[in-house]
Amino acid sequence: MKPKILITHQLLSEALEYLKKYTDYEIAAFHRQLSKQEIIEKIKNKQGLLPLLVDPIDREVMDAAPSLKIIANCAVGYNNIDVDYARQKGILVTNTPGVLTETTADLTWALILAVARRIPQADRFVREKKFKGWEIDLFLGKEISGKQLGIIGMGRIGRAVALRAQAFKMKTFYFDPRRLPPSEESYYKASFLKLNELLATSDIITIHTPLTPQTQHLISQEEINLMKKEAILINAARGPIVDEEALADSLQKKRIWGAGLDVYEREPIIQEKLLNLDNVVLLPHIGSATYETRLKMATIAARNLVQALQGKRPDNLVW
Ligand code: GLV
Repeated sequence: MKPKILITHQLLSEALEYLKKYTDYEIAAFHRQLSKQEIIEKIKNKQGLLPLLVDPIDREVMDAAPSLKIIANCAVGYNNIDVDYARQKGILVTNTPGVLTETTADLTWALILAVARRIPQADRFVREKKFKGWEIDLFLGKEISGKQLGIIGMGRIGRAVALRAQAFKMKTFYFDPRRLPPSEESYYKASFLKLNELLATSDIITIHTPLTPQTQHLISQEEINLMKKEAILINAARGPIVDEEALADSLQKKRIWGAGLDVYEREPIIQEKLLNLDNVVLLPHIGSATYETRLKMATIAARNLVQALQGKRPDNLVW
């Protein structure tokens, strides 16, 4: 008999075909959010769980599934899972690192350019038939070339963002609790700065840390107050790293020049204030959303799950 598994949401069909060979799967929800209670109801008799980053997998969920062996998150981030508790219970946890690095770095740059050059606002202007001809001061944005980029979190994605900055001839600085060795600093053309110095001197600040208790509200009002008035803040990592209310207030008061967000504190809920501001570009958490990358993520999550159920060590164990 094939092991029973729960897939919280619809996956891409190629990954489902693979899972069908090895498991007896149930998909909990199609194109809607899933409540924790529903996960608890459905996980009871399952040996494997394949959640998305939106699904909270905490003690209560794990306690509801006495035969659960593996939680194969379909994301690189795994802040939605109580990993310590899983470890205590001997439940394996895996993620999908590596495959979304370039895709998320590309999206970060798309956001930087969209904010700096006011692309969505200009697009709306054209669609509203307001374009009456070239004007010297139409949609003036911010120059990027030669400016200072500050990267918070110099992991895989932060480094991929730094490489792209070289094409824009930017001066790149980074903050990370672990300093890169000098050879890497020179390869990425990025120098270390303490967080406060990075915040105070950068023209564009972009966040690429995981969400942990240490990075929750890493950027709150105090940190925003250190930034230049002309600064742009980008977050394509996790919403709760930034105090969204403080950011919305600061944008409203024009304390900084602009922001680009792909993630939010209480997704999918977004501060009403942000929705009404013109100096912020808002995306619906699509950092890794290319067909190629999402397929790789789903396939890797499925493979991790099957490996664990076959008693093998999954490739991407996080503990
Ligand atoms: C996306 O946000 C991920 O963590 O994979």
